[in-house]
Amino acid sequence: MSRDFRPLRHYTPPFGWINDPNGLVYEDGTWHLFAQHNPEATHWGPMHWRHAVSCDLLSWEDRGIALFPDEALGMIFSGSAVIDHGNTSGLGDGADPMILMYTSHGEHEQQSIAYSNDRVTFTPYAGDPVIPNTVQKNFRDPKCFWDAERGRWCVVIAAGDRVEFHASPDLIRWQKTGEFGQCENRMGGVFECPDLFPLPAPDGSTVWVLIASMAHPGPFGGHRTQYFLGQFDGETFRETMPAPHARLLDAGYDDYAAVTFANADRPMLLGWANAWCYAMFEPTDPFCGAMTYARALSLVETDAGLCLAQKPVTPAFRDVPVPTEPAPDPLPRRYLPKAEGVVRGEVFHIRVESEGCFALTLSNEGGESLCVTLGTDQSLVVDRSRAGNSDFSPLYASGLFAVMAQPRKVHGPATLDLYFDRMICETFLDGGTLVNTSVVFPEAPYTKATLLGEGRLYIGEEAQ
Ligand code: FRU
Repeated sequence: MSRDFRPLRHYTPPFGWINDPNGLVYEDGTWHLFAQHNPEATHWGPMHWRHAVSCDLLSWEDRGIALFPDEALGMIFSGSAVIDHGNTSGLGDGADPMILMYTSHGEHEQQSIAYSNDRVTFTPYAGDPVIPNTVQKNFRDPKCFWDAERGRWCVVIAAGDRVEFHASPDLIRWQKTGEFGQCENRMGGVFECPDLFPLPAPDGSTVWVLIASMAHPGPFGGHRTQYFLGQFDGETFRETMPAPHARLLDAGYDDYAAVTFANADRPMLLGWANAWCYAMFEPTDPFCGAMTYARALSLVETDAGLCLAQKPVTPAFRDVPVPTEPAPDPLPRRYLPKAEGVVRGEVFHIRVESEGCFALTLSNEGGESLCVTLGTDQSLVVDRSRAGNSDFSPLYASGLFAVMAQPRKVHGPATLDLYFDRMICETFLDGGTLVNTSVVFPEAPYTKATLLGEGRLYIGEEAQ
């Protein structure tokens, strides 16, 4: 019998399976989150949308199932939500309705909508599907947004080796306006769960960010999320700042299908903190699947060019500096400064500030350890090979998924923020320009943090 790994400050379903976050939307102080959900088992199955709400993005109130598979149109695959300001759809009963747009996955993948006037019950629209399809095999995960410049709705939809854009005056009548990605894609696999939104760049211009999760046919390399930077003219997206390699949203494997909240005052991203190839084997019964912390996005200039920076919304922590052991006298040639402190609780924050190289280790009394290093090659390495239970999946235990390395995008002094919640470890280096999200399953909580090398260590317990 495994111990309770349910995260305390991240969204998980009360039971059953979840994957992608769906229908993320903010309204009047409430964050709505829906999730791909199988209520019957801790593995993928007939997809529903489960609903939860939060006022702080840290504690979630479960609202049960919002959308059930439809006999005629099929399962409810991923999608998005908007507040239909001005009731363009005519589906409001005096106020602005919330519209959910999702993929009906039956014999074909088609786009449907459902509406809600009370934010508790959700009614599929009688004229579904609103974007029919009998031709394309992969055609899913509509992310809808309001195009203020042109005064109409837009949706970006994953369509095999590309994404498509469609526009509508009322969320019901749609017309295709463009497509992107067939030539520009720098990763294998098919597109899934796209998102498109503008962000201010440091030079004052507006840059559009297109996020695309990529599903690979085989497990190796896993499912990863990439992003493109460019411009959107209301009809299609053009990549105006190509990078030599795919830009990864996360250097870890446990952050997939991340999309932003609609109707929020700035882009706030949240992903599924699991990986397709081993999620269903994780020792977390009676539930399987968790979401990442929500992360505010910005664009920053780095030595590797313009890039996304992620700043998570976390509980407040009381950070306490840990003294570095005094250097021995005389100083041995191979001396490495060391700081070691006690970690209390299962939700904590570790900060390392360093002008050089360091190795940070979280460990428990059973000898399990999770190690995060910044080496001389200036790569951030997250090594979970000895972090806890890995027997549940040979893939999870394999080198590819156990030790993850990614080069920094900036040089000079480094600040690392690591946020831990029972089984989810989210590491943000250099102001969130390099992120690693990794799940670990220690048999007992980590109780010690050790820093070897140059730097200062801080341990933060949750402030009560
Ligand atoms: C991505 C995904 C989506 C699909 C959903 C099905 O993880 O494959 O493309 O809509 O999951 O659950």
